[in-house]
Amino acid sequence: MRQISAVNRAKFIAARQAAYYVRDNMLVGLGTGSTAEFLVRLLGRRIREERLHFRAVATSVRTAELGGDVGIDIIDLDHVAGLDLCIDGTDEFDGDYNLIKGAGGALLREKIVANASRRFIVIADDSKKVDRLGSMPLPIEVTCYGWQTTASMIEEMLRDIGQKSRGFQLRFLRQSPYLTDEGNFILDFSLVHINDADTLDTRLNEIPGVIDNGLFTGYASEVVVGHRDGKISVHDCHTGLVKEEMIDMRRMVQEFCAVIDP
Ligand code: 5RP
Repeated sequence: MRQISAVNRAKFIAARQAAYYVRDNMLVGLGTGSTAEFLVRLLGRRIREERLHFRAVATSVRTAELGGDVGIDIIDLDHVAGLDLCIDGTDEFDGDYNLIKGAGGALLREKIVANASRRFIVIADDSKKVDRLGSMPLPIEVTCYGWQTTASMIEEMLRDIGQKSRGFQLRFLRQSPYLTDEGNFILDFSLVHINDADTLDTRLNEIPGVIDNGLFTGYASEVVVGHRDGKISVHDCHTGLVKEEMIDMRRMVQEFCAVIDP
């Protein structure tokens, strides 16, 4: 059997499950990141093999490019009144299905698209589950203008609400500061454990210069988790019910090779 890393296997089965949420004539939001990339390729295969027809809004330039390459009809968010569903990855999710997103640098468009969708389906491998948000740095998108002043204001606010912080880093891509698709900077704040995600989210977004942050509280409708042992669990975030099934690994590897690595 071909070797696929355990984490990619888990991401792939989550994406594969969620790809079947898309039905003919839907308007769909497509996330960003490696799990979302699996999803986009799987949807491309459904278009080719099943003649599935749907239109999609991409949450980043790179997802739009990949979507176009695999035959998805990518449209502008402003050309539709809302979306049936949005499917996107995450960096962390906690027991209340609150998320940290943005390691891939697309948090702003991701939040706008998720907010415009009736259902927000999160796809994740099992390493993304945390007891408390904050194991990874919280990405905060800020204007380039005055970013150091904005960072100081964020630090002052963190002290004010009693949120521990180990400092921040301006995100870089190679030798230059990373620029989002909207032309902004990202500050990655190491917060250890986030005490109160709702308060932090509100207080951050009140600071002039902060465009948005990677906390997605109360957004998720379902979280589809791929496990490294081949189990898939679908969490209904409203009822708390969890459905589980095992995936046939041999078939999954064949599909992976056909779709991702032909
Ligand atoms: C991009 C994101 C991604 O959804 C998140 O980083 C997960 O990425 P991956 O699927 O590669 O683990 O928020 O801004």
